[in-house]
Amino acid sequence: MPSAQPTLSVTPLPDAPFGAVITLPADEQDPAFLSEANFKKLYDAVHEHLVVVIPGQKDIAPQSQYLLTKRFDPTCEGAYGHSKEFRHEKSVLRRDGHSTPAQPQVQILGQGRHDGHAGVADLELRHPTHMSFHHAPLSDEDMAKGYTRFYRWHIDSALYELAPPVATTLLGIECPGAATSSQTIRYEDTGEELSTAQAATAFASGAAGFERLSPEEKEFALNTTVVYAPHPYIFISPAKATSDGLTMVSEGKELPLDELPEWEDSKVKRLPLVWTNPVTGKHHLQAHGCCVWKLETPEGTYELEKARETLHKLMRPNIGPSSIYCHNWEEGDLVIFYNRGVWHSVTGQFGPDGSRLMHQCNIASGRDPVCVK
Ligand SMILES: [Fe+2]
Repeated sequence: MPSAQPTLSVTPLPDAPFGAVITLPADEQDPAFLSEANFKKLYDAVHEHLVVVIPGQKDIAPQSQYLLTKRFDPTCEGAYGHSKEFRHEKSVLRRDGHSTPAQPQVQILGQGRHDGHAGVADLELRHPTHMSFHHAPLSDEDMAKGYTRFYRWHIDSALYELAPPVATTLLGIECPGAATSSQTIRYEDTGEELSTAQAATAFASGAAGFERLSPEEKEFALNTTVVYAPHPYIFISPAKATSDGLTMVSEGKELPLDELPEWEDSKVKRLPLVWTNPVTGKHHLQAHGCCVWKLETPEGTYELEKARETLHKLMRPNIGPSSIYCHNWEEGDLVIFYNRGVWHSVTGQFGPDGSRLMHQCNIASGRDPVCVK
């Protein structure tokens, strides 16, 4: 009698609208080197549960994290999900992350000084906060009471020239205080509040976002293309975001197109508003509301302000407290999320002595997502 094969198990997260915990087989503890059969289970779990957590991975090397991330997309050629404009002096992403020298596609994120980590002698990290990005940030008084916001709901993607990554891996290496410090996300429009651990990562399901649309909205979404601005993170840099982090306030502050780094129309991203999950066949409402430029709809082209308002109206119902999953980080958590099926946001802020260390990896795909009607 052959002995039973050790296998990977998938357990839905308790008390969460989606997400799962993965237990690795005893003899396959490095997730980058799973057998074909076990990787297939992991691949399917990421597409079905959208966010999966593999605990106990604190020491996974950047090279392994890269290989694991790359394995989710046979079409990707290995470039980081953002182009070199990621570091442009005007980009809203310029201070987010620092490449690991051994594997430049793996970014170091976090807060505070971590000199010497991954061979980087001088490493100061800054957790992105809503204070520098929102049009009307919380007052110091409210933040002292523990209030925070969703920083920016997004899909990891350059949204210019490169195709959106299939999966993102996010590793919590040092997350002190996450288990003991809480924060409260405040929804300014409804007054609702959501309590989470400090600097939790928030996720919303694009599938749930599509499902909750009215029949008319579904029809509209299935037939709409989102056009992203050229070098979108530079384009929006003088503008500020709405208090829910879903889109930008339209005040005409965007950088004029002729002041952007060189761009060409053929590299402007035109992506469907609905992306079809290749494993489940479900439709996901997927848009980066801060970077949208125009919407090409059945009624004609919507320009910037109307495009933002339209996406906001479609997306806002899907980020309510009971609809989202907030990952409260524990040291060693390796989170893998289906970047083409969820929206996610940083939350929280740290005090002057705050410290956190994480590794993130995503890789530009070789193909754009598609809507299969
Ligand atoms: Fe992200």
